[in-house]
Amino acid sequence: MQSPIKLKNPSIFQSQAYSGEWIEAKSGETFDVEDPGTGKIFASCPDLGAEDVDTIVQSSHNAFQKYRNLNPRTRAQLLLKWHQLILENRDDLAILLTHETGKPLSEAYGEIDYAVGFTWWFIGEAERIRGDISVPAAPNRRVMVIKQPIGVCAALVPWNFPIAMILRKVGAALAAGCTMIAKPSPETPLTTLALAYLAEKAGFAKGVFSVITTSNTKTPELSEALCKHPLVHKVSFTGSTYVGSIIASHCAVGLKKVTLELGGNCPFIIFNDANQDQALDQLNLLKWRHAGQACVTANRIYVQDGIYEETLAEMVSHAKSIRLGHGSKSGVTMGPLTTSRGLEKATRQVEDAVQRGATVIHGGKPSATDGYFFEPTILRDMEESMSITHEESFAPIAAVYIFKTETEVVNLANNTEMGLASYVFTKNVDRMWRMMEGLEAGMIGLNTGNSSAAESPFGGMKMSGYGKESGKDVAVAEYLVSKTCTLTLETDSS
Ligand code: SIN
Repeated sequence: MQSPIKLKNPSIFQSQAYSGEWIEAKSGETFDVEDPGTGKIFASCPDLGAEDVDTIVQSSHNAFQKYRNLNPRTRAQLLLKWHQLILENRDDLAILLTHETGKPLSEAYGEIDYAVGFTWWFIGEAERIRGDISVPAAPNRRVMVIKQPIGVCAALVPWNFPIAMILRKVGAALAAGCTMIAKPSPETPLTTLALAYLAEKAGFAKGVFSVITTSNTKTPELSEALCKHPLVHKVSFTGSTYVGSIIASHCAVGLKKVTLELGGNCPFIIFNDANQDQALDQLNLLKWRHAGQACVTANRIYVQDGIYEETLAEMVSHAKSIRLGHGSKSGVTMGPLTTSRGLEKATRQVEDAVQRGATVIHGGKPSATDGYFFEPTILRDMEESMSITHEESFAPIAAVYIFKTETEVVNLANNTEMGLASYVFTKNVDRMWRMMEGLEAGMIGLNTGNSSAAESPFGGMKMSGYGKESGKDVAVAEYLVSKTCTLTLETDSS
């Protein structure tokens, strides 16, 4: 299929699935890819089903036999070449990303720059994988722990940051010496296929990085077949807590290693003594990024009573400057929601909050244009009983609560099953420390909003999942197995 979008390098537009060769589904079926900024179909991809899984896993397993033995320097060089090709094709990847996800071009470039942080990081990590040697208590023995790649891995990737999530997972796996089968979300297969095309150009052998395309209808059955395939040894999933627990149960059958990066519901807390400009700058960047469709976004904004009114006024003033529109148009600062489901959920959540006593002080409804646009929305007087308090919005809805004391806000912030990220803004160092220790989240921003970075471990606690992606040692460790080898020495050398 020819690219429906004008690209500098049209060959990066690939719409078939990839297993070292560009393939169709055995059934011959396809599914459509929509531009959420227009609501119109602009591409279609093979709709692979459970019956396609074995062939792809076998090809990945065959590739693993050779790739596992590649010298770490060679793996780093391949990753470096891939990284360079991604940068060379940055403009085209950005435009594809904008059409798949709806995010404005400036944010698409931002995502690519964030994402190549991962390839850059894992180029280095490939050569830093180390075992361990020790002398145990038993006489004449030496213990060596060696680290080896775990085998064929699978990545189940969401639609909100499809390039960053692919490079975060695939980069770690390829650095470790594993092969990887990625299943992008049905909404965003094209950027993943473009990355696979560039990986092939970089010199990765057939089967080292494969891409399964599938529709929302076939995803559950196909994912189950992939997770339960005996040759798949590790699964990394980013998505909802509901689906994450199903994935964990599939993986439990074969005792597969799993990384789960699940839902957020993150609190963002601003105390009276915070640097308000700093807090608002960080809040605006975090809250409106990709129209609120990030699991680390500020879902519940807690503002202390002394600065509540002025914070709301500043938030409204910023929201008025947001320009909603198709992501490819210049000057647009917020795109649509990526799915029509998102629009329905946002509408329901705002109605629920208003019925229970909240007031809409900006926006509040879908925008009357083609595509899945929702107005940037600010709700005040939010309370515990409202549904946004207990479920992620994944929409441009800033839900603002008032609080009086530190103890009260810590209890409110922790009163959720989730534990991905929390944010706190204060200039009191003692309080900062208490909050850091008291907030139940895998990542804590201290006078900092979005803090995701290749160098820092990313991951949650409670129902936000387990395992870490990115960061020193920990990310690659998810793709390794260790063997403890004990050697007994003969002490007499004569
Ligand atoms: C996510 O929202 O799923 C990831 C966001 C990030 O990596 O910053």
